[in-house]
Amino acid sequence: MPAGVTRSDTEVLLKGVSDTERLASQISDAARVGDLLCLSGDLGAGKTTFARAFIWARGQRAGVEVGEVPSPTFTLAQVYELPDASIWHFDLFRLESAEETMELGIWDALQDGICLVEWPDRLPQIEIAARLDLSFEFGDLQDERRVRMAWGEDWQERRVGLEYS
Ligand SMILES: Nc1ncnc2c1ncn2[C@@H]1O[C@H](COP(=O)(O)OP(=O)(O)OP(=O)(O)O)[C@@H](O)[C@H]1O
Ligand SMILES: [Mg+2]
Repeated sequence: MPAGVTRSDTEVLLKGVSDTERLASQISDAARVGDLLCLSGDLGAGKTTFARAFIWARGQRAGVEVGEVPSPTFTLAQVYELPDASIWHFDLFRLESAEETMELGIWDALQDGICLVEWPDRLPQIEIAARLDLSFEFGDLQDERRVRMAWGEDWQERRVGLEYS
């Protein structure tokens, strides 16, 4: 990890979809251009559910009706042009190399947007201070998920006051 990038972790229990949506909405509130949100976890862990709620909440705040937010499993990337930022939603599951991944234009997307990336283990090393990792795991009950958040340095001030920080 380069100098100047420090991380700190939080772990929370999400008791159902509405907790996940609430977390996504809070983080979307604090998010800004240049942020890289890496969403990891097994199939069905809740990455797209989080991303969808994030995008909807951000749209709602901007007074924009976003409409459907499909999983980018096959399109690989979807972009939502909101007034204050473009939101890029990537799903790298079907990609095999870091090179292929970078052809999707993630660096460019970070210039004027916020990137939400599912299956970030396919990404090359992108250690930036505006990175936030969320790792979803299944809990003991059907709708429970545990999420571990690793906050980059840029998030340290912004996370203060978030319910789940
Ligand atoms: N607390 C929860 N948070 C998120 N999803 C939940 C929760 N409880 C139940 N679910 C359900 O789990 C499923 C999560 O699916 P989702 O598509 O978000 O997973 P994913 O991690 O994106 O999977 P994939 O790797 O296939 O893209 C949904 O059907 C959702 O309703
Ligand atoms: Mg998904």
